[in-house]
Amino acid sequence: MKKRIALFISGRGSNMDAILRQAREGILRDVCRVVLVFSNRSDAKGLQTAKCYGIKTECISSKGKKREDFDREVIELLKPYDLDYIILAGYMRLLSSLFISAYKDRIINIHPADTKSFQGVGGYSWAFEQDLKKTYVTVHYVDEGMDTGDIIEQRELDISDCTTLEEVETKGLALEHKMFSKVLKKLFETEK
Ligand code: GRF
Repeated sequence: MKKRIALFISGRGSNMDAILRQAREGILRDVCRVVLVFSNRSDAKGLQTAKCYGIKTECISSKGKKREDFDREVIELLKPYDLDYIILAGYMRLLSSLFISAYKDRIINIHPADTKSFQGVGGYSWAFEQDLKKTYVTVHYVDEGMDTGDIIEQRELDISDCTTLEEVETKGLALEHKMFSKVLKKLFETEK
């Protein structure tokens, strides 16, 4: 049975785009169906991209709302979609334990660093400013913490040839776009 998934975004949505492409005509085609793209920001660029794919989109603004109140609204919104997994693809918001327990072990995130070394926003800037020769991209389960959930898979990113932050980001995002779908495919195939 194909997994029913929702992609959560807050902005650009390039990882979402890569997953939608793979779900439509690539390696995710036989393992999942993207039934929803959700955003907590109405100005998220990725919402327009999702519409171009003909994917259902929903948005609830999180602005000024208490974490639990907002998450309760989102949980209600998601119920009819009968989701197997929620994939965070640039979703810039911590999830409350209310939300985590509603989708226990079913929420996956991609992080542009080794989550053991760097958490939060700006993983590529951190690697660039530290003058690292290599950094990592991590796909992990999501818990209540900031990038603290169990690691599913990590890939090394050689940035020794990058002289600007833009180069690091371009190289990193190219890896993210390939890696995320591959990891999800493996997960969806092995999980009941
Ligand atoms: C990516 O670097 C991802 O790893 C991080 O946020 C960024 C989102 O970019 N969680 P995009 O919206 O997928 O283009």
